[in-house]
Amino acid sequence: MHRSEGVTRRRIVASGLAAGAALAAGGAVVGRRPDQEGAPGAASAVDRGRLPRVIRPGRQHEWDAHLGRDVAGNRLPPRHQRLLLCALANEPTPERAWQAEAALRRVERAVPLGHHGLLLTVAWGPSWFGRIGVASPVPVAVALHDAELPRLDDPVCVLHLGSDDERLLERVERALFRGGTLLRAGGSSDRSGPTDLCGLLRVTERRTGFVGAGLPERHRAGVVGLPQDQPLPTGTPMFMGFQSGLKRNQATEDDVTIASGRWAGGTTMHVSSIALALDSWYRSLDDRDRVRRMFAADTTPAKVRRSPRGIDHPADVDVAKVADQQSVVGHAQAAAAARRDGRPVILRRDFDSADGGAARVHFVSLSRSIEDFVATRRAMDARPAVGHGAVGVHVNNGITEWMTVEARANLLVPPRRERICPALPGWSG
Ligand code: HEM
Repeated sequence: MHRSEGVTRRRIVASGLAAGAALAAGGAVVGRRPDQEGAPGAASAVDRGRLPRVIRPGRQHEWDAHLGRDVAGNRLPPRHQRLLLCALANEPTPERAWQAEAALRRVERAVPLGHHGLLLTVAWGPSWFGRIGVASPVPVAVALHDAELPRLDDPVCVLHLGSDDERLLERVERALFRGGTLLRAGGSSDRSGPTDLCGLLRVTERRTGFVGAGLPERHRAGVVGLPQDQPLPTGTPMFMGFQSGLKRNQATEDDVTIASGRWAGGTTMHVSSIALALDSWYRSLDDRDRVRRMFAADTTPAKVRRSPRGIDHPADVDVAKVADQQSVVGHAQAAAAARRDGRPVILRRDFDSADGGAARVHFVSLSRSIEDFVATRRAMDARPAVGHGAVGVHVNNGITEWMTVEARANLLVPPRRERICPALPGWSG
């Protein structure tokens, strides 16, 4: 049966140690056979009891049905988001994995699923798989352009949290890592056990941010990389002045789901941190110039307004020819060269940030394989166009002139039943 239905995960006969007590206490107490004491990672013959019952989709990345929508039917990302990059706090054992899964479920019992409540995915990097001696389903990230020098991160685990309610998000993070408690609907606290992951994970880096009408302007003052003498376009959801993630320009969740094999039902995730320097974006370009660079060289602000669900850029575009004729290549136009069967192959879940007092995008991209992300990122660079017309590596070439990639990481988002310690011996299965 499926774990998200809240059934007992593993009911192996206990060797007389505390099993009855564990069940009586709602499963929060974990027994160990004396001969396994101190045998990290070993298959554990204990009754771990019942995991708290909570109903969630089998695919962790299944957020779309739980997001808000605008009038055009585009999904609206959670207005506040966090990425918590984690290292192991302790040796991973089946017991600690059990406790972490139970803690996540208690959090999910306290906070409803959805953009008003909480959206959460847990992803694992190559270093995790290396640690448990299992071949990593994703490669360690590499630089994707001669002209970039990103830090190549390989965190054991990354939690991606989203909510429209910033205070709720803060409370969830505190419950997970900083000793906070969460009240359930109705005001009672969950007495079945702890809601923190501290026995397994510790946070090494927090990336925080937002996306949605008005939020970029609210964060503009004093932030490096943003114009200080003029407001951002009224109601813009992102620092660069446009709405992103339009329906026609996104892969679907089905598109990015791993279809078969060991990790079927999961997806892969690329996480990068991109610094923005937008003074000249706003000072030197007018609306038309910005639209040409963001969308396509022959696009106008009026056409963008008439296409609220996005523009279907052709995948077979000859960017060198566009550069010869228009002296500019558009960002979405170039990235569209990676489309398959008429659709993009990555699902973007990025958000803006003012972390450290500087404007940035925390770019989160889901795809069936990391190769799909890499192909899209390379397409975005429009290499064949460089040297044609006035197009250079960073000049008149989409939005590359205004962004610097500072960090990259690749991760696996396992299906929900393995969202904690995937493939850990004695735990997965
Ligand atoms: C500074 C960061 C970025 C901003 C502000 C940005 C913004 C946008 C906007 C406004 C669009 C068109 C509308 C829409 O999304 O629906 C778009 C399209 C797109 N962007 Fe970005 N983008 C950024 C970085 C990236 C990166 C790093 C990638 C990775 C390859 C990427 C891949 C794409 C793709 C695949 C499309 C759709 C292309 C298609 O329609 O086939 N973007 N982006």
